[in-house]
Amino acid sequence: MQVLGIDIGGSGIKGGLVDAENGALIGERHRIATPQPSTPAAVAEVVTAIVRHFDYSGPVGVTFPAIVQHGVTLSAANVDKSWIGAPAQEIFRAATGLPVFVLNDADAAGVAEMTFGVGRQHQQGVVILLTFGTGIGSAIFHDGKLLPNTEFGHVPMPMKGIHSEHYCSDKVRKDEDLKWPEWAKRVDHFLALMELLFSPDVFIIGGGVSKKFDKFAPCLRRKAKIVPAQLLNEAGIIGAAMTAHQAMQASAA
Ligand code: BGC
Repeated sequence: MQVLGIDIGGSGIKGGLVDAENGALIGERHRIATPQPSTPAAVAEVVTAIVRHFDYSGPVGVTFPAIVQHGVTLSAANVDKSWIGAPAQEIFRAATGLPVFVLNDADAAGVAEMTFGVGRQHQQGVVILLTFGTGIGSAIFHDGKLLPNTEFGHVPMPMKGIHSEHYCSDKVRKDEDLKWPEWAKRVDHFLALMELLFSPDVFIIGGGVSKKFDKFAPCLRRKAKIVPAQLLNEAGIIGAAMTAHQAMQASAA
């Protein structure tokens, strides 16, 4: 079955059709710049435009870069603040007229990596996926099962007094013009904190930097295994589509 996945980010909103059985993207992705300000009404308009672009009707999975509890967005670090407390799932359902399922963007990427990406080899124990982009997204799994909405990008860094995503996101690397080893040292500091709290077996490094893994991985000194994500830019779309497919199956059972 083909299911539409839509990945909402701070700068772009991307959609694609996914084969829900094998996680493969079917055809081209469609990207529209995130409207500024990224209010619920403006973002819902773009989500609807993506649905129309694919001439699609069926379940839709949508990721959002915030805490998403029972379809409601509870934070808004890198999007318009009017999303705090907004009934995101209802807003997208009303705009598209379709059964929409909303989840956190890093949770979606994690679900996709664990099912079709590098996480397939790590179904036992504790796995932490971290996405480094404008912010830092997180997803933690125990024996393959997700604990949603962990928000490790907002954990304060000891002795620094700032959130981890303001210390070592990929945006910080670019804004402060950090060399890869300088940035890696900060990431290692953050991973050390994660290791102290959760003793993971594996860290999966996602987001745009996963393509540059060789440039910074040699500077990371953790006990846990550290691997790059495999699904790159597509993980959010794939995880969103999978989630919508599973939710429809569960409601039909
Ligand atoms: C948000 C998270 C999101 C991450 C990556 C953070 O600022 O709070 O919900 O997963 O950015 O987009």
